[in-house]
Amino acid sequence: MEQAPYTNQDLDVETRVEDLLARMTLDEKVSILKGKNFWVTPPVKRLGLPSFGMTDGPHGVGPHSSGWRKSTYFPTSISMGSTWNPEIARTFGEALGRETRASNRHVILGPGVNIQRSPMCGRTFEYLTEDPFLNGELAVAIVEGVQSTRISACVKHFAANNQETRRMSVSAEVSERALQEVYLPAFKAAVTRGNAWSVMACYNRVNGVFGCENHDLLTRRLRDEWGFTGFVVSDWFATKGTSGAASCLNAGLTLEMPGKLKNKYKTGQVIAAVQGGDVTMATLDEHARRMLRAMIRTGLLDDPARVPAGVKNVPAHHEIAKKIAMEGMVLLKNEGNLLPLDAGNVGSIAVLGPNAGKKHGMWGGSSQIRAQHEITPLAGLKKRCGTAVSIVKNPAGAGAAIVFVGLNHRPGNDSEGMDRKRYDLPAKQEELILDTVAANPRTIVVLVNGSPVGMERWIDKVPAVLEAWYGGMEAGTVIAGILFGDVNPSGKLPVSFPKQLADSPAHASPETFPGGDKVFYREGIFVGYRHFDTRGVEPRFCFGHGLSFTTFGYSDMRLDTTTVGAGGTVTATCTVTNTGTRPGAEVVQCYVRDVEASVERPDKELKSFAKVHLQPGESRVVSFTLGKEAFSFYDETKGAWVAEPGKFEVLVGASSRDIRLSATVTLA
Ligand code: BGC
Repeated sequence: MEQAPYTNQDLDVETRVEDLLARMTLDEKVSILKGKNFWVTPPVKRLGLPSFGMTDGPHGVGPHSSGWRKSTYFPTSISMGSTWNPEIARTFGEALGRETRASNRHVILGPGVNIQRSPMCGRTFEYLTEDPFLNGELAVAIVEGVQSTRISACVKHFAANNQETRRMSVSAEVSERALQEVYLPAFKAAVTRGNAWSVMACYNRVNGVFGCENHDLLTRRLRDEWGFTGFVVSDWFATKGTSGAASCLNAGLTLEMPGKLKNKYKTGQVIAAVQGGDVTMATLDEHARRMLRAMIRTGLLDDPARVPAGVKNVPAHHEIAKKIAMEGMVLLKNEGNLLPLDAGNVGSIAVLGPNAGKKHGMWGGSSQIRAQHEITPLAGLKKRCGTAVSIVKNPAGAGAAIVFVGLNHRPGNDSEGMDRKRYDLPAKQEELILDTVAANPRTIVVLVNGSPVGMERWIDKVPAVLEAWYGGMEAGTVIAGILFGDVNPSGKLPVSFPKQLADSPAHASPETFPGGDKVFYREGIFVGYRHFDTRGVEPRFCFGHGLSFTTFGYSDMRLDTTTVGAGGTVTATCTVTNTGTRPGAEVVQCYVRDVEASVERPDKELKSFAKVHLQPGESRVVSFTLGKEAFSFYDETKGAWVAEPGKFEVLVGASSRDIRLSATVTLA
């Protein structure tokens, strides 16, 4: 018998898809647009098409969605955001792809690229940053890494899903300019540059329309403007509030998940909708085509020996988890160079606080991970200290005291389905910090959490603070490594830490967060540092901030031109030197300020960055090439991106508030 073209893996994807589609009955096409159960689509046995499977989530393969097995527990996304390192993001994506394959799934439900609009969003830890540019750079790298293993990334949650309160119904009332400049860029980059094979539609409504039946998002932007060739899957149960299958199918929602339970894509009803003309055959075919394309892209019909092999829980992946933690932890404060501690000299350390011995992997909602091992801070310290340093409980008289505070994944903290209840740390933790520092001035606070926390009650009294985030399975090893100087921290905050919640732009009133039936994004584009820097509000720690055990000098800023013409670019170069005594890495950040604009623009916007690793005394020339996009804003009256002629400042620095060099360029 002749081989059917769709099974021939030497043919191109589109030929195979069309061949397979042409062989399918209406029933069969409809059957693959919904789950068979929670995680997989039904097989089409007649054609030898197996089930196609999905699994959570953004920082490792979730046990709940792939047979309760163990997998590598990578640091959570905010930690990845703090690395500012697309290379690590790509390597991580590849490892995640291989773990997904080893779990018998074809889609990993991540990355999560919703903007960190408020510190109180329960899922801030699952998202990367408050900045659209950093978000896009990391998202593209993760998507490319995952898909290099022929596993589909699934960029979520499209769009404006920036809170958990009433997530199944709330309407994010957001301006077109804010969508274009803040909330959509990472989705767009993941599709146009990363060629993401799938996108997850959000639970919430966007300007009144549910993500799952939002033609404007799913068809006009995603398909028509961005050229998306993949499939859109509903967030789990997100079709619930929609007006039904026809509306979702016509809007561009391909796959409804999960299956069975009260779903809208009921075979009989979808077929009736097609036969009755509510959904055209062309629309249905297009959805089936998109599912088949994903199946063929991910090797569902191929000889496993010719598909990138799956592997999970291997030392190489654990090593990547460790690397992300090493580059993702952020040294927020280090007065008098209290850190690093000298293991040969300190004698003893007091270890205190609720997060010293706590594991976090198995919590966190859909992004939970069943880790093969998870090194707690205490375990990491015990190993590092060995017999050289004794670990005690009483801070008084100890060589230093380390207090592990922060949050956890319990409801009301960093958790899915509910937003945080309190911006400051629990009062008991604040008291523990204050008592400890009163007993021992050499107190270091280590924060283990996934979103900004208030520190005003204690920050001025404490000399050193390390933001460790949820650092994955090797968190404790890395924390101990930083505290004792084996690891030089190089993370930078991907999000601003307001002093108090009222300073946060999303928290102007209850209508702006969490809202009721609607939540009003009245701050518009002024999210994160765009707000703090433009409105002159001082955050506790600014976007891009992070210290090192070495120091970096910035010099010799040059532009290759002072005038940029239509279609032109400007390249800024500068020299960065490690002026200290330890090897270290610096994230060199390049912002643009529009000096004269016809609309209100942020004080500055991140447009490029580079992470450079330097030996003591070593210098590196860093360059940033800026094209028209770097100077543009979204003009609502014209309905287009516009780069206005005039002066712009190119600012280069170590954080959004530590600008070291600048130069002026004119857009002709
Ligand atoms: C979450 C998604 C997740 C899905 C499947 C939903 O509740 O919002 O992020 O991928 O469940 O577990």
